[in-house]
Amino acid sequence: MNISLNLQDSAAFSTPLLIVFAADNATAEPASPALLTNSAALLAATKPWLSSGEFKAALGETLLLHAPTGLKAERLLIIGLGKADKLGIHQLRKGAGVSVRFAKPRSIRDLAITFPEDKSLPAKHAARAIAEGALLAEFDIDTYRSDRKDLSVHSVTVLHQQSDATDLQQGFDEGIIVAESQNFARSLVNEPGNVLTPTELGKRSAAMAAEVGLTCEVHSRAKLDELKMGAFISVTQGSPEPPALIVMHYEPAVAPAADAPILGLVGKGITFDTGGISLKPGDNMEKMKYDMAGAAAMIGAMRAIALLKPAVRVICVVCSAENMPDGKAFKPGDVVTAMSGKTIEIINTDAEGRLVLADGLFYARTLGATHLINAATLTGAIGVALGLLNAGLFSNDDETTAQFMETLTTTGEKYWRMPCTDDYRDQIKSQIADIRNTGATRYGGATTAAMFLKEFVTETPELPAAKWIHLDIAGTAWSDDNDAWISRGPTGMAVRSITEWVRSYSS
Ligand code: BES
Ligand code: ZN
Ligand code: ZN
Repeated sequence: MNISLNLQDSAAFSTPLLIVFAADNATAEPASPALLTNSAALLAATKPWLSSGEFKAALGETLLLHAPTGLKAERLLIIGLGKADKLGIHQLRKGAGVSVRFAKPRSIRDLAITFPEDKSLPAKHAARAIAEGALLAEFDIDTYRSDRKDLSVHSVTVLHQQSDATDLQQGFDEGIIVAESQNFARSLVNEPGNVLTPTELGKRSAAMAAEVGLTCEVHSRAKLDELKMGAFISVTQGSPEPPALIVMHYEPAVAPAADAPILGLVGKGITFDTGGISLKPGDNMEKMKYDMAGAAAMIGAMRAIALLKPAVRVICVVCSAENMPDGKAFKPGDVVTAMSGKTIEIINTDAEGRLVLADGLFYARTLGATHLINAATLTGAIGVALGLLNAGLFSNDDETTAQFMETLTTTGEKYWRMPCTDDYRDQIKSQIADIRNTGATRYGGATTAAMFLKEFVTETPELPAAKWIHLDIAGTAWSDDNDAWISRGPTGMAVRSITEWVRSYSS
């Protein structure tokens, strides 16, 4: 999709489909939706429809007019952004998405969006939100369908009236980078497990890295042995597919001060999670191809970081494996030794994500990371606790958490902080080893998993403690619902917020 900004009057723009946004202005007398433009021609063309009461401007609601009077456009689509007093860039991102998802099934290839004029939509952020919404809406999951029709939208032109569009253009360009990176992550998550093996994930990461100028190394089993990653290795044992340890580095153009933070992004890349010997039930098991969504989020964020070029060093570590049952598979009761030297009693082989992350987090610290963030489809329990809207955030540091939460005003993603305090540590005590890989009970399962990860970010004789955030995206990385602004399937959760969090450290 070609998406561009254009200084032009929408009424005079020839297009098969012109979009204008409206907000539900309940305080007006009589109540009527407010069109978010000053264009007299657009206001005139829509007046009868807006005053008739049949269009309420609810978020995602649409009204289509053919051959609108006084406009060059063949069709005019009014898209509701919801209540005027709730209006913000997150509603606009969705509204922009609606425009593309409206056009796709109708084979409308080109559309134009009237840039909304409203004080609650600051130009730079609004431009970014439109670019993101439109590009994210283009994604569909039907990759392997023989009857797949090419319904892609070819061009989206955003028409604005600002003589100085520097800010607008900057926000817009950022939006394109971030959304294309999020779509890249979504395309990885959408791939079936037989296509996207750990090796293939490594190849696609390396290809992306070469394209955007990141260094990328993809290691296999030998390196895991060399690093003594006993926790990660245990998970890989049951599969004939070799694991992949993917390591990417982003180095800013100007070398940061020696004591500047080094950010470590760590992803869970289980390309398929059968549960292993602790086999999962068959129902919905096919969805476990998305158990590498944390890895995909980090790989997508690295792409965005490479293109946005913040002044901060970033290291990305992805631990990828397939969790399978087999004669060689690890099993309940096994004791394994993690890279950090901690011994782990395996209680359940389905709690494999925390095992690969244990070594991934520790390894990132040995590479110099001072601040760690990991994303993982780690527990079903997080969905039970928070539903499917908020992802869980766990951290050992309030300041780092605050810095992350601050980015959500721009990205619109939702996270809820969950407890991860040492009074939960008893849950992971083992009789035979240092820790066990599941909680003593099933209560607070998302926190137990976080407590397990926390063991690998604390101070050791060789390494200082790292400031750390764990994002449990198991409930939010995949959506079964087709929304008006975005397709069902992989959501690309965490790409936008991780990217913004990294940028917030730019010196
Ligand atoms: N990959 C799953 C978690 C998951 C569940 C992701 C649902 C997406 C949707 C993870 O490896 C897992 O199986 N966790 C177990 C942990 C349990 C054995 C302590 C779980 O959540 O049941
Ligand atoms: Zn599992
Ligand atoms: Zn898993």
